[in-house]
Amino acid sequence: MYTGAMRELIKKVEATRPQRLGVQFPRMTAQEKDDILKENYPDYKDDKFRNLNVGVNKGSKVPQELAELLEAKSRLQDLDMDLTKFNYDVDVLIIGGGGAGASAALQANEKGAKVMIATKLRFGDANTMMAQGGIQAADKPEDSPEKHYMDVMGGGHFTNVKELVNALVTDAPESVKWLNELGVMFDKEDDGTMVTTHGGGTSRKRMHAAEDYTGAEIMRVLRDEVHNKQIEVVEFSPAVELLLDKDGKAAGAVLYNLETEEYLIARAKTVIITTGGAGRLHYQDFPTTNHYGATADGLVLGYRAGAELIYADAVQYHPTGAAYPSQIFGALVTEKVRSLGATPLNIDGEQFTYHLETRDVESSAFIRECYKRGKGIDTAAGQKGVWLDTPLIEMLLGEGTIEKRLPAMMRMYQKFGIDMRKDPIIVYPTLHYQNGGLLIDENCKTKVENLFVAGEVAGGIHGRNRLMGNSLLDIIVFGRRAGNSAGNKFKEVELKELSLDHVKAYHKSLDENGISTDKISPMLLPHYTHGSENDK
Ligand code: FUM
Repeated sequence: MYTGAMRELIKKVEATRPQRLGVQFPRMTAQEKDDILKENYPDYKDDKFRNLNVGVNKGSKVPQELAELLEAKSRLQDLDMDLTKFNYDVDVLIIGGGGAGASAALQANEKGAKVMIATKLRFGDANTMMAQGGIQAADKPEDSPEKHYMDVMGGGHFTNVKELVNALVTDAPESVKWLNELGVMFDKEDDGTMVTTHGGGTSRKRMHAAEDYTGAEIMRVLRDEVHNKQIEVVEFSPAVELLLDKDGKAAGAVLYNLETEEYLIARAKTVIITTGGAGRLHYQDFPTTNHYGATADGLVLGYRAGAELIYADAVQYHPTGAAYPSQIFGALVTEKVRSLGATPLNIDGEQFTYHLETRDVESSAFIRECYKRGKGIDTAAGQKGVWLDTPLIEMLLGEGTIEKRLPAMMRMYQKFGIDMRKDPIIVYPTLHYQNGGLLIDENCKTKVENLFVAGEVAGGIHGRNRLMGNSLLDIIVFGRRAGNSAGNKFKEVELKELSLDHVKAYHKSLDENGISTDKISPMLLPHYTHGSENDK
């Protein structure tokens, strides 16, 4: 429900609407984009980052919050574990139960592997489930993987690993076809043609959606398929450390049963990390769109075992997090709202940026408008934000469009007495995605033999800034590639004695570099109260 003061401000939005209708705001030049990023984007706040003191990426810049976890102690530091007895013994161990993990499991299973998914919460409690807007694939006649490639590279400021982008865009049409055939209910025209829309930074309409809960729909289908294939899923059992063999090759993981509080040994010929992102670290105190378990666990596991990080300092703040009401502060307002025509406005009802700049640029424009230009809206709950003029969608595309294309978003706002068909909503950037992660090659291999990585925990694909819809695509493309790689590789692996020597060596390196800490990682669950273990 808007307050009386907010209602007065909405009148200014309504007053400028007729002259804005159908007029496109100019896009920024390359120079303007560079400038606005440097002056406003959170990644450019040097005091919020520091260089790592240990590990493969010693000397590399990462967010302070992540550095603390990467330089923390293992949960197993004081435990004497018998590594000769196994609770689980499989060919392919997948750590993480989101879209990438499920896709990997299906492919590895196809290859004849005995597969197990170990997941921290329930199967499907993952950022995949929260993804709203869509999945990109160049599968229309006016489009091509080459055009998709150029968009991905441009969005990532040409810092992307080219081979990974090539894999992403080349596999995209087949990935969407695979999902469609598995039963994902994509939006379609009456004749069966997929409905596609633009996202920020796309030169063609290639976003395929299932209304505004695309990720939940994809996860529904993948999870069903994993269960249909009778692949073992162990829930509430996060990995707390990778196991290597005496030659330093990945050979399983130590799992922690959250219910019984037991540590369990999972031996595996190959391991795939698909643990997702880090939004719950709340970098720079931003709220987040991420699910509860997004605490950078995979980065910690992989890094301690010797896998390399790339662009761990590149974080995505989605321009449109809900800024009001406070009950949904930071929740995702899908980019699809802007791709359907809603535009950002300041307190005077003026548009101040093109509505579909890439996310980092768009977010920077919002931050500048609120803090440098002082033209943000102060919400009743004490936050700042800008208007997103959602009624424009109905004016441009016809009455009923919001209900048809954005039903979940419409209901979310209706619960708080806001009808986004009639009134604009208030938004501000929210922590959304980890652009970087563990470096992989196009077959999802890492520097650690028999260790594969896929999904948000992987880095290099999106360079320093990901475009909308390339995350759902990434989890499918690289999830499947990781499943194929591990599903082929396990056949030639001879298992040897298991070891946690790499953890001991990491602790030694912390000591040698003068790092004294009582912090423990992986974090596993975020802490929203004082005095918990991770407040240390
Ligand atoms: O805005 C969104 O719907 C988010 C999509 C994405 O991160 O790919």
